Amino acid sequence: MRRPLIAGNWKLHKTLAEARQLAAQLAEKSRGIDDRDIMVAPVYTALTTVSEVVQGSAIQLAAQNCYPQETGAFTGEVSPLLLKDAGCSAVIIGHSERRQLMAENDAFINLKLLKTLESGLQAILCIGETLQERENDQMLDVLSRQVKGGLAGLSAEQMESVVIAYEPVWAIGTGVTASNEQAQEAHSFIRGLLQGLFTPEIAAQTRILYGGSVKPNNVDGLMAQDDIDGALVGGASLNAEDFLRIVKFSS
Ligand code: PGA
Repeated sequence: MRRPLIAGNWKLHKTLAEARQLAAQLAEKSRGIDDRDIMVAPVYTALTTVSEVVQGSAIQLAAQNCYPQETGAFTGEVSPLLLKDAGCSAVIIGHSERRQLMAENDAFINLKLLKTLESGLQAILCIGETLQERENDQMLDVLSRQVKGGLAGLSAEQMESVVIAYEPVWAIGTGVTASNEQAQEAHSFIRGLLQGLFTPEIAAQTRILYGGSVKPNNVDGLMAQDDIDGALVGGASLNAEDFLRIVKFSS
């Protein structure tokens, strides 16, 4: 019942020419795939270009971040409204790199999420524990705090436009993936949290992606887990062949 979603987070990579080329390859080679959602998140400056390239294809467009105001005196920021204008249908919010490098906290992430939904876009809320938190047995507390903080004030109806991405920080960009069992355990815990915060129906409908060193050789095992509904892919999304293999997972 949950439609799989494979999303590529290009992070701070790809010039315009490179972004155009990768997007064109993905658009071409994903033709005919209609049983799963495919999304890419380029840097801001490549959004309109990629939007034009993927128009009419199976590829959806997401931004990697946003600012929680529509317009105004906010130098250097971009709002969900303008991201929508640029062709985006979703925004990645609260990625661990932003939490760590830009000191984003749950309250600020929550504001971004609410603004994103208000603007009619989907939100992909990223959560995940650090290695130290896992080793100190704080994983469940951290996930609980991030889910509750990130989703504060949301209605059940708004949850229909929310995707959660569980990305253990120790697995991001390290080549160390969570085992299928570790990922399933976290996903099942997160779904339980949603059940308590909203309803069993919302918990059952919400897509929970896994992220952290997802590669062609481990995607099938991860996608075979009951509560894993897709992947948020960093490094392996920068190469068309690798990303398409991940898109074409079989579970
Ligand atoms: P990775 O990144 O696939 O390179 O580990 C995932 C992410 O940060 O979304």
